[in-house]
Amino acid sequence: MERERRIFVTRPIAQPALRRLAQAARVELWDDDLPPAHDELLRALARADAVLSTVSDRLDAGTIAALPHLVAISNLAVGVDNIDLEAATRAGIAVGHTPGVLTETTADLAFALMMAVARRVVEADQFVKAGKWRTWTPRLMLGRDVWGATLGIIGWGAIGQAVARRAAGFGMRVLYVSRKTAEEIATGPSAPQRVDLARLLAESDFISLHVPLTEATRHMIGAPELAAMKQTAIIVNTARGSVIDHAALTAALQKGRIAGAGLDVTETEPISHDDVLLKLPCVVITPHIGSASVATRLRMAELAVDNLLDVFAGRIPRCCANPNVKLRSLQTS
Ligand code: DGY
Repeated sequence: MERERRIFVTRPIAQPALRRLAQAARVELWDDDLPPAHDELLRALARADAVLSTVSDRLDAGTIAALPHLVAISNLAVGVDNIDLEAATRAGIAVGHTPGVLTETTADLAFALMMAVARRVVEADQFVKAGKWRTWTPRLMLGRDVWGATLGIIGWGAIGQAVARRAAGFGMRVLYVSRKTAEEIATGPSAPQRVDLARLLAESDFISLHVPLTEATRHMIGAPELAAMKQTAIIVNTARGSVIDHAALTAALQKGRIAGAGLDVTETEPISHDDVLLKLPCVVITPHIGSASVATRLRMAELAVDNLLDVFAGRIPRCCANPNVKLRSLQTS
């Protein structure tokens, strides 16, 4: 008889999904919102056949090499930049992830950040709560129009396109850059316009980032790109912090080279409490909550569990970041 599968779940996830996993395997849950320390993670993984991980668990080549029995990593995220995908593939470990189910929720947050910065929503809220609201005045909290503005979307995947759909409702002109080939992209008279990066930077009032973090996209927005933007431009990042060069962004905002930033992700997470960005009123920062709605986190957890169960049934996970992996065998004793 096959022995029971052991899963380490690195953070509390939605209960229904956790219960379903517990019916199929022996679950060890790290029941804390703060991640296990790396040595703690290694100890727990040494006892496990698979792990349900999050973006704040680093599963690098060294960690993977130390885990000869691990067959699957199921990341509760679409992004897998916390995992050394090549090392996992070489080792025969399937890496599951959760694309699709979080698309619209993440696009909502990108739009919320854009609007919050443009219309100074957070600053205005703090102003009222600090008892500073004395009267209506024509000069109070003047922001920038979102409606009718030009939105530049960098990365034309599911989330970028979901942001573009929202922009249509605001009468925005949408430009985008994409690595896809021209044939893969739908066009039409009112369709968003594909342009090169230089044109997108020069013409956009808002720029929203939707690329995965890879060696090619790390710091793709640095000093030269920030200098090429309009001085009135607002940049929004719900992708990964390191797509923007943090130091260059800070300098550009301090010098008024661009007008503002809405960041759900930062180069170091959490951002240091002393970081200058936290002192700038033209910056709104949220703590990596792009997919954080009750319904979406449940869908993500269910999909992460499905991905694990697929591997235990001898299949490649239904949403797999390394679909060409040759699965290593499950331990039998
Ligand atoms: C992702 O899915 O990659 C997010 O960053 C976590 O929700």
